[in-house]
Amino acid sequence: MRKPLEVTLIVMAWLLCNHPTPVATDSQIKALRHNHRLYRSPHENTPLTTSDPHGGVPMGISNSLCDDAETYLEVDWDPASKQEYTCDSESALKPPLHQCLPDPIVYSEAIPTSGAHRPLWPRYGEYDYVPPQRWLHSLEHGGIVFLYHPCADAKQVEQLREIAKGCLYKHIITPNKNLSLDTPYAALAWGCKLLMSSVVPSRVVTFIKEHALKGHEGHVNADGQYSKALRVPATHQLYEEDTEASLCHMLTSEGNNNQDSLAVHGEDGKTFSSTGETKSSSDRYFSSVSDIVNRIAADSARRRSRLDEESAKLNRNIQKLITAFRKFQQ
Ligand SMILES: *[C@@H]1O[C@H](CO)[C@@H](O)[C@H](O)[C@H]1NC(C)=O
Repeated sequence: MRKPLEVTLIVMAWLLCNHPTPVATDSQIKALRHNHRLYRSPHENTPLTTSDPHGGVPMGISNSLCDDAETYLEVDWDPASKQEYTCDSESALKPPLHQCLPDPIVYSEAIPTSGAHRPLWPRYGEYDYVPPQRWLHSLEHGGIVFLYHPCADAKQVEQLREIAKGCLYKHIITPNKNLSLDTPYAALAWGCKLLMSSVVPSRVVTFIKEHALKGHEGHVNADGQYSKALRVPATHQLYEEDTEASLCHMLTSEGNNNQDSLAVHGEDGKTFSSTGETKSSSDRYFSSVSDIVNRIAADSARRRSRLDEESAKLNRNIQKLITAFRKFQQ
């Protein structure tokens, strides 16, 4: 009779002979990596106790058990394929699609600034609501879209509205719930967006001057055909159409003053750092003088029309009074 220990040993030997262990099993590698303080599975949320702040895996040390910059590269990309660095017809830039209704258009971004859109674009102005499927077309035509979250601060929305109206005809103003409440205000141009936690007039004006009228059809000035929920149509004020030079000329709000001081500082900086190009700085001087003249002209035109309105109203009231008085006399 064999003793139990002997039996166990024989069984173990038999097991070892008939099931030879591979060079290193997964669990052995795991144990090894663990011992090397290099193993950290994404499923294992407990970081290793070590002074290394990156979860126990120090940087810059090549280790075949972790990362040697050679093995398993295909987990991130396939080095055998040229796909990732070849321009194919799929990814080449194509004009965005004009998509007919009732086909839905879905965007991957919460606030898209390019992509497929509807063939009819919105009339410029302020809306109760315009969906991105429409205003993307306005961006393509070089317009600026101003978004605010419906829960945003009413005073700041008013400020955004003033800037929009005073800066360009080709503007769309609409609420949009896809904005985060952390950044409930936005100005959009084709391919560009400015998200703001509060309305900073000088930033908005700079954004408009840099990006308006620049979509790949930025020269298209015709107004749109869509006007569902249009609240206030845009009005041409001093200028027949938007030009680079006319951008933000109608601004009279505080925002404009901020912008003025900003522009002056910027230009001074440029003038002094340039190589003494007096011509360009005098050009700049005259263009800013003509800016001011234009602005004064626009301002007085507006005041005059307001006065005209007031005096027409007064006249109407006087007429009413006279009529009432005559009736009273009879
Ligand atoms: C909101 O964002 C999603 C993507 O996150 C997009 O598909 C959808 O069109 C957006 N809706 C609006 C109203 O902007």
